Amino acid sequence: MKSNDKIKVAVLVSGGGTNLQAIIDAEAAGIIKHGTVSLVISNNPNAYALARAANAGISTVVISSKEYKEQDVFEEKLINTLKENGIELIVLAGFMRILSEKFTSRYSRRIINVHPSLIPSFCGKGYYGLKVHEAALAYGVKVTGATVHFVNEIPDGGEIILQKSVYIKKGESAESLQQRVMRQAEWKILPKALELVSKEMLSEKKGK
Ligand code: GAR
Repeated sequence: MKSNDKIKVAVLVSGGGTNLQAIIDAEAAGIIKHGTVSLVISNNPNAYALARAANAGISTVVISSKEYKEQDVFEEKLINTLKENGIELIVLAGFMRILSEKFTSRYSRRIINVHPSLIPSFCGKGYYGLKVHEAALAYGVKVTGATVHFVNEIPDGGEIILQKSVYIKKGESAESLQQRVMRQAEWKILPKALELVSKEMLSEKKGK
């Protein structure tokens, strides 16, 4: 498929960008066929994810949270950037700023997020990054995993697209669990979900 015919995707990041890397690799491997990452946006100018994007030849934009403290102004800048680049689908891959209802309702079923637990466990406000795994270990659950879902006005509350479980090992640290959940679940289901949603979006577009 020509890249002009594919769904144009922006990946929003804040940190290391291993999920972004999984998406880049999956597109290169032909696992993602119906969408193409054409832009990476970071709210953190120091995110290593920006280097990953540049290495893959993908355009990057920084909209710094420090500079754009006001939510409205931050989101206005974000919307303009998405429009200017003709973005049709947004992927939150370790993006650590909550988006307002005004923003999420504008892109209904057009934003997907990866969360490092089996939603509805260990999710919502305050549950992000390592904190999620610390909470799972503190509770003593034996199975955790990752979830990819559509983003709506409720943090981690949108419709679930894919989930994958990971068994917790006895005496495991939060850091080790985080790594295993990424490797065994997130890096697999995020590219898969991106392909599923872009394929559906393309067939809707063609049906019109
Ligand atoms: C990932 O584990 C992702 O699921 C999590 O942050 C990490 C980012 O890693 N996201 C959240 O907790 C969102 N609530 P990455 O930058 O290496 O992809």
